[in-house]
Amino acid sequence: MTRLRLGILISGRGSNMVALVEAAQAADYPAEPVLVLSNQPHADGLNLARARGIEAIAVDHRPFSGDRAAHERALDDHLQARGVDVIALAGYMRVLTPWFVRRWQGRMVNIHPSLLPKYPGLNTHARAIEAGETEAGCSVHWVSDGVDTGEVIAQARIPIRPGDTAAALAQRLLPAEHRLYPEALRRACARIRAGNGQTD
Ligand code: GRF
Repeated sequence: MTRLRLGILISGRGSNMVALVEAAQAADYPAEPVLVLSNQPHADGLNLARARGIEAIAVDHRPFSGDRAAHERALDDHLQARGVDVIALAGYMRVLTPWFVRRWQGRMVNIHPSLLPKYPGLNTHARAIEAGETEAGCSVHWVSDGVDTGEVIAQARIPIRPGDTAAALAQRLLPAEHRLYPEALRRACARIRAGNGQTD
């Protein structure tokens, strides 16, 4: 079976990107990482990708002076040039324009550290603790217009412990993210192959 060509967008540490790259080493994994893009030139994840033999390119958003669409056209040029079929956002910290979202609709997924639809956006852990939640988690979802909206593909849950801080919770959740993302991307690839990735 030909594998789908995977592009991964990051902004920083890149631990979820590494989890995807490592999962893709399995012979039966449906996606092959071919390109990592970062809007942050000094993102640690760029070197982690290169160390694993994946082409990694920084496309700094700053020289585009706030022209988000122009920055995304530059990202898109790289993705098209490498024949990317599916995008995984992995800690990509910029909100995408409707143009980019529609262009990749049904072929782009994201991981978010909350049990969506609860706590989209930033500071999810602090907000969950503040609200007295007893459970936290992470979600992999199709990307659609709107921040952290779009159909959820898979979720993982962990308990919030008394006295938990946002930092402690984030750290405890991370291994669950690393298990969830490769499995959810596997499901997403199956949907794309079947021609029914999320389309609304
Ligand atoms: C993760 O917690 C992910 O859920 C969120 O941003 C963080 C990125 O971490 N979207 P990393 O760069 O994958 O290590």
